[in-house]
Amino acid sequence: MLIAVDGPIGSGKGSIARGLAWHFQVPYLKTGLHYRAVARQVILNGGCVDNEDDALAACDFPMGLLGEPHLRSELVADLASRVAVFPSVRQALFQRQWVFAHRKGGAVLEGRDIATVIAPDADAKIFVTANPDIRLRHRFNELLEMEYPIELKELAAEVTARDFRDESREQAPLRMCRDAILIDTSALSPRDAISTAVDRIRKGP
Ligand code: C5P
Repeated sequence: MLIAVDGPIGSGKGSIARGLAWHFQVPYLKTGLHYRAVARQVILNGGCVDNEDDALAACDFPMGLLGEPHLRSELVADLASRVAVFPSVRQALFQRQWVFAHRKGGAVLEGRDIATVIAPDADAKIFVTANPDIRLRHRFNELLEMEYPIELKELAAEVTARDFRDESREQAPLRMCRDAILIDTSALSPRDAISTAVDRIRKGP
């Protein structure tokens, strides 16, 4: 079972993806961490995230970096969305993500371009959304829980800018594909969102 989960910031795609991985007993990959690790490595190298050569050089970041708590901050997420605009960076990460997706036994991958680029052949494609206020609140609470507090107003501006960058970039912009299952989590608890996703996958798109 190969499942693609895409969606914007704070939509609840992470908890749906983790829930599906648990339900179907397959490994799970949050691909956003790869982009976050590239951004963090650029900074560690003393480079600039808006420079494509610096970003590409950072794609061979050590695997250990993926476990670094700082990667979860909104600052790193913002830098990640800046390296994510570069075609060479996306190409460099494609191989890793493709291999993970196509391992024997299946997988759940979560990101922005899973259904459109990494695994257009997925058995199920889920596009998760929620209304903007709820998405902002989700992300705010998530950062609080991870002890990366941020002013709500500041976060609102960052989320708007990052969403815009992710939706408007030329290479692999965030898009819902035609055969995806749309799940709006605005009125759903995380638990209900997961069971809705399981039911919809069983029924098909
Ligand atoms: O999912 P997450 O918020 O951790 O992703 C951080 C950033 O990485 C996103 O805002 C996006 O710019 C980039 N990303 C991407 N493609 C993916 C996953 C993440 O461009 N598949």
